[in-house]
Parts: sequence; structure tokens; C-alpha cells
Amino acid sequence: FQAEKGLYKHFMAKEIHEQPGVLADALARYLTPDRAAVRLPVPVDFTSASRIVLVACGTAHYACHVAKYWFERFARLPVEIEVASEFRYREPPLDAGTLGIFVSQSGETADTLAALRYVKATGGRTVAVVNVETSTIARESEVALPILAGPEIGVASTKAFTCQLAVLAALAITAGRQRGTLDAAEETRLSTALATAPGLLSRALALEPEIAEIARDLSRASDVLFLGRGSMYPLALEGALKLKEISYIHAEGYAAGELKHGPIALVDDAVPVIVLAPTDPLFDKTVSNMQEVMARDGKVLLLSDAAGISWAGEGTWRTLALPTLDPFVAPIVYAAPAQLIAYHTAILKGTDVDQPRNLAKSVTVE
Ligand code: G6P
Repeated sequence: FQAEKGLYKHFMAKEIHEQPGVLADALARYLTPDRAAVRLPVPVDFTSASRIVLVACGTAHYACHVAKYWFERFARLPVEIEVASEFRYREPPLDAGTLGIFVSQSGETADTLAALRYVKATGGRTVAVVNVETSTIARESEVALPILAGPEIGVASTKAFTCQLAVLAALAITAGRQRGTLDAAEETRLSTALATAPGLLSRALALEPEIAEIARDLSRASDVLFLGRGSMYPLALEGALKLKEISYIHAEGYAAGELKHGPIALVDDAVPVIVLAPTDPLFDKTVSNMQEVMARDGKVLLLSDAAGISWAGEGTWRTLALPTLDPFVAPIVYAAPAQLIAYHTAILKGTDVDQPRNLAKSVTVE
């Protein structure tokens, strides 16, 4: 194992830094050579679908949560996102118009597999989005799409998440094209934006020295809140999951608009609040939530682009300047600082980053 880590101390660090490369490889399989359109390696038919159900566990579930925003917007289809362990026992009514999409790095997660079998048994159609192409979930679904992230060893998923997002983005664009809800110009704009993700991710990773510095303070916190709106909400959930998984610091992700319905009660000068806010159409709303936190002496770490930081950075505890980007690809790019925050905080806490206590890479039994 030691040799495979190369220059890195942990597989997690290696896998975080591999992202620009593997993401570019994945996109090469999902975009046309001119990057102006999406081309799936295996066809998927969305024209007969009346709704999409995205099912997964853990980090893969948060990738589905991001994808819900994309499918709804581009394909104007009703989309549900489901935690596999709940979905399978609820026995929801489904029909032939249901298209189930099962997202799993390992392709062996017991609950996700059971959910796939349930959709098949109730007459729905099935698509798997997997990293391990020979896995049970890949074999049992009608269509299997590879995320091409390469082997992921660190228990906390990193590069699989961003590659899952890339493949789900390509699927959502395809669904929009097939259903006539996305025109060619818009497909070109989105595809071109997607093609910029590896380079932007690489620039986000260059923030590592600053993040390592910020982690010194975070490592002393006992609770951390992550806030975001729109597709940054699932990123807030993923950021909190990463942090608690490997640093054992209690963290919660919240939709920024829900702040006043609970978590604001926790805010004081000892609770860092990490705000994920690229300058997108919801930016002002998120900033007003952030100001509510600051008015209560909350210690805000604002992740935004240069324009966002110059507009709203005053009075925050710290800022991290991410590249200016098309908001469509923000979930992919903002994953990098979220992962690095967790990684560097965990290093300072001295935890076993690659094999955190009580966690398994793949949960193949219930
Ligand atoms: C475990 C892993 C997570 C992963 C989840 C789902 O909890 O620790 O990193 O996201 O399982 O695994 P899957 O292989 O189905 O994506």
C-alpha cells in the first residue's frame, strides 16, 4: 500500500489531488471531442420516463441530491432522491414510467442493491452509475455507466463524488435534450462549462496551504455548521459528512434558509459556520443568512469567488477565494475545499484519515 500512495501521506490526499485528472478522463468519455455536447458511452432513454428516482447511500446520496436540481431544471421531470435503506422498506408505489438511477462507488452497497432489485421487480427501469464496472449493481441494472474515477482506497469518498457529479450532469443534460426542454445552445453552454471543471478544480486545490492554516482553528471546534442554498445545499451536507467522518468533530449541513428554524440557536463565537456561496442567483439570499450568523457573533468562513468576497466578505472570520465559474459546475469545484477542510482538520486531530474508526469503505451487509 505504501508504494501506491506515492508522495502522499494518505490515500485520501492522493485521491483528492487526482481529481482534475480523473475528472478530465471521465469527461472525455461523456462529452463530444469539441466539448460542445454530451455523448453518453451507453444510451439511456429518458423519453418514456415520467419520473426519476435517484437512490444511494452516504456521499453518493449527496451526489444524487445535487443531480436532482439539474434533472428538474434541464429535463423538467419530477425527481425524488432517496436514501436506499429507507426507500427499500417503504415499498413506494412505482410504475413503468419510473426510471431508477442507482449511484454507488463500490457497486456493492447492500441497501442500494436491494433498492435496485425492488425497482426492477415493480416494473421500473434501472440505470447504475458506478465506479467498479464489474460490481453487482452494475451487472444487475439494465444500463451501467462508469464514473472512471479509478480505485478509491480512502474510506471517505472524494474523487468518486466529483466523478459521480460529472456523470450525473451529463445524464441530466441528455435528459433535457431528449425531452426537448434544453435547446442546443443551452446544451453547448452547459457542456462547455462542464469541460472547464477539471481546470477549476485544480485551481481550487491550490488553496490547500490556506486551508491547512484555517484548519488550525477548526480543529479546536467541537461543532461546525455548513450552509448553502440550491446545489450548494447538498455540498453543505457533504462538507459536514466529510468533516465528521474523518475528524470526529460534530458537523451539520443545513439549507441556509433553514438556519432560522433551528441551527441559529447553536451559533456563538465558538461555532465556525462555513458558508458555500458562489455568486449565483441565490447569492444574495445566502449572504443575508450569513449576516444573521455574524450578527450573533458567529465565526464565518465564506467560500466564494472574488466578486462574492468583495461584495460580502467584510466582517467574516475568514474567506477562501475560489475561481469565478458557471454556477452549474460549482458543486464539483466547491467539493475540493470541502474535502481539504476535512482532511487538514483531521490531520491536526491525529485521526486515522484513511481508515476512520467504525466506518467501512463499502457496507455490504445491513
Ligand atoms: C460508506 C463509505 C462512503 C460511501 C458510502 C456509499 O459509507 O464510507 O464513503 O459514500 O458507503 O458507498 P457506495 O460504494 O455505495 O458509493
